[in-house]
Amino acid sequence: MRRAARRLRRGGLVAFPTETVYGLGADATNARAVAKLFALKRRPLFDPLIVHAATPAQAFALCRHVPLLARKLARAFWPGPLTLVLEKGPRIPDLVTAGLPTVGVRVPAHPAARALIRAAGRPIAAPSANRFGRTSPTTARMVRENFGRAIQIVLDGGPSRVGVESTVVLPLGGKRAAVLRPGGVTKAELQKAGARVARRLPVSGSGRKKLAPGQLKSHYAPRTPLALIARGSEAALSRALARQPKNARVGLLCWKRPRRARVHLAACVALSRSGDAAEAAANLFQAMAGLDRMGLDLILAETPPAKGLGEAVADRLKKASHR
Ligand code: TXA
Ligand code: MG
Repeated sequence: MRRAARRLRRGGLVAFPTETVYGLGADATNARAVAKLFALKRRPLFDPLIVHAATPAQAFALCRHVPLLARKLARAFWPGPLTLVLEKGPRIPDLVTAGLPTVGVRVPAHPAARALIRAAGRPIAAPSANRFGRTSPTTARMVRENFGRAIQIVLDGGPSRVGVESTVVLPLGGKRAAVLRPGGVTKAELQKAGARVARRLPVSGSGRKKLAPGQLKSHYAPRTPLALIARGSEAALSRALARQPKNARVGLLCWKRPRRARVHLAACVALSRSGDAAEAAANLFQAMAGLDRMGLDLILAETPPAKGLGEAVADRLKKASHR
């Protein structure tokens, strides 16, 4: 931990666990360190980074103005899987926010993440620790598979508890807020905490891209092609298999434990035992990476029910299926 903090202070990069996914961290106040991070991830410069703080006070000190709703949501969900997009203060270089006037801030819940931020003594900019567009890592092993020796320090904090990234929320004034990315905090939880979740962004077209960049159609993708099929339908599965060449090796990522052995599949992995969305989210990226290692021709993934945490899982699978 001490070595990792020193490396960050000197402008180096460190991979570390959070409760959502593993992050690749750089000193958020050091533009040169952040530039290294973009280069290593091969991430386009228009995609802004989330800045991680050890406490709400440290997070809000990076912002120019913190609306009441943001404070309320922070009290309800920090430390935890919520990112608030707020007006940026002068301490954060433009590179971090891709030139936007706003910054995404979050206080992660994983004790190792908070200890690292505290030991480094500064906020840490961290995207998920994967090459751009690929599946996010939820274990230290997955980080290694992405970067090999290119990252010297990977803090191993065990498998990520939540398994999907934080929910990115933009306060719109008063109690209104927009969800820019579904994630570990559900819409129902945001509403319960007092937010009125807007159905759509207040702008469209290029204005929308400016407000919510990084929302690419293709993302979170394994190397193996992935296609979505209807959940629990034998007919949909047979149809999808019939479309494949004779000797194709097809793996199935099912929502809950399959009811019977499907002999014609090369692999079958269930995201949860009983269809519990939290369990499915926690298993999602590891299950995708596991199937990806098998050298299959195709991964078929069942579409999750789009409610609760299922919404975030459905979002990730949809983007993983886009080529
Ligand atoms: O759970 C998480 O959020 C993980 C862990 C490591 O904290 N981090 C993560 O970072 O998912 P990343 O870089 O993979 O995704 C960050 C996304 C951007 O692509 C963008 O969609 C949104 O957060 N974002 C960040 N700053 C923003 C801003 N100022 N305005 C709008 N969206 C922003
Ligand atoms: Mg990411």
